[in-house]
Amino acid sequence: MNVLLLGSGGREHALAWKLASSEKLGRLIAIPGNPGIAQYAQCMETIPLTDHDAIVTVCGAEKIDLVVVGPEAPLVEGIADRLAAEGIAVFGPGRAAAQLEGSKLFTKELCKAHGIPTAAFGRFSDPEAARAFIEAQGAPIVLKADGLMAGKGVVVAMTQAEALAAVDEVFAMGGSGPEILIEEFLEGEEVSFFCLVDGDTVLPLGSAQDHKRAFDGDTGPNTGGMGAYSPAPVFTADIERRTLSEIVKPTARALADAGVPFRGVLFAGLMITSEGPKLIEYNVRFGDPECQVLMSRLEGDLLALLASVARGELAGQKVALRPDAAICVVMAARGYPGDYARGTPIGSLIAAERVEGVRVFHAGTRSEGTRLLANGGRVLGITATGANVAEARERAYDAVARIDWPDGFCRSDIAWRALGA
Ligand code: AMP
Ligand code: GLY
Repeated sequence: MNVLLLGSGGREHALAWKLASSEKLGRLIAIPGNPGIAQYAQCMETIPLTDHDAIVTVCGAEKIDLVVVGPEAPLVEGIADRLAAEGIAVFGPGRAAAQLEGSKLFTKELCKAHGIPTAAFGRFSDPEAARAFIEAQGAPIVLKADGLMAGKGVVVAMTQAEALAAVDEVFAMGGSGPEILIEEFLEGEEVSFFCLVDGDTVLPLGSAQDHKRAFDGDTGPNTGGMGAYSPAPVFTADIERRTLSEIVKPTARALADAGVPFRGVLFAGLMITSEGPKLIEYNVRFGDPECQVLMSRLEGDLLALLASVARGELAGQKVALRPDAAICVVMAARGYPGDYARGTPIGSLIAAERVEGVRVFHAGTRSEGTRLLANGGRVLGITATGANVAEARERAYDAVARIDWPDGFCRSDIAWRALGA
């Protein structure tokens, strides 16, 4: 099979690496790809992911049998519908089902209609009414803009004053539309849970825990994710059973019944509360860096699995993760998620990958001749497997220490919840 992979991050490098090990793979093409992905794929760097016409043209010219969509934006913009209309198999949901990530209001209303556990919420189009609600509810309380906000658009207010002060800001956020959400603050441990979904067939892939804050001890500003590990001990077999039966399966069924079946990977962001798992949000793609650790543990043929979802033939498929643990430590450019320099040179990745169980995924790099340069905020994902989280972590940080990139930084405490700081 010839496969077109869309995206350019660490998530897509991990997918490309795993796809490349499939015996079924013919050619792998990536739009736009990155220097890590280029080890396994022909990268077409000049085509933007917003150019759906050009993507369709590449599919025809290169005889593509399957398109795998990495990031959410093309899905929310309808790339899967467009490809399906052209008769091209695609891994990733259509625009209507992608609303699960594209609109928080859509997801909250779906949860309400189907009794899916999530934070209680109100929706407001008037700032005065929003403030009155906050005064009645008290703090802590959470304010959210609607729309695709690239990880921004959420204010977790620990005091009432903070919440009241944030109302105008959240209304003003781009993509927000006329309404905002205000919801109950959930207490517990967060976990990311991934399932392959094809209509009402749900196949659990595994769990991971992400570290969203920039600095050690979960301090500093929010980021796209500074590291991840899998499995997450908080996600016990019992919690997984409840999450499937109370959250993920009812969601898949609701979309299928509404005539907009979900085909792709559903990423449930969960809070494990004292009452059980509650949905914080859905994403309609693999997490980044969660994908790097999941792919490191996945047994068997990723291409066969993704193709079966795309063809509507997931029922009866099996998926297995190795019992090993995996960890991904993200190296980011100094200053991220604020301003940072681009173009700083990176060396010694080969030495890093000599550590047993280690693979370095490229997230934001570019090559210039024989040199590798940083080309983004999150730049590398140093990923290691081991018999347990402790061993995987030791290997990952051993590899980090070998990397020659004075302009980069990483957290030193990835997986602290599993190991203690
Ligand atoms: P989101 O953009 O929806 O992923 O939210 C960003 C982060 O805000 C989440 O990862 C949580 O840490 C936090 N958060 C969102 N909603 C809630 C909630 N209802 N209660 C507590 N924390 C929340
Ligand atoms: N690491 C969180 C995300 O991909 O949304």
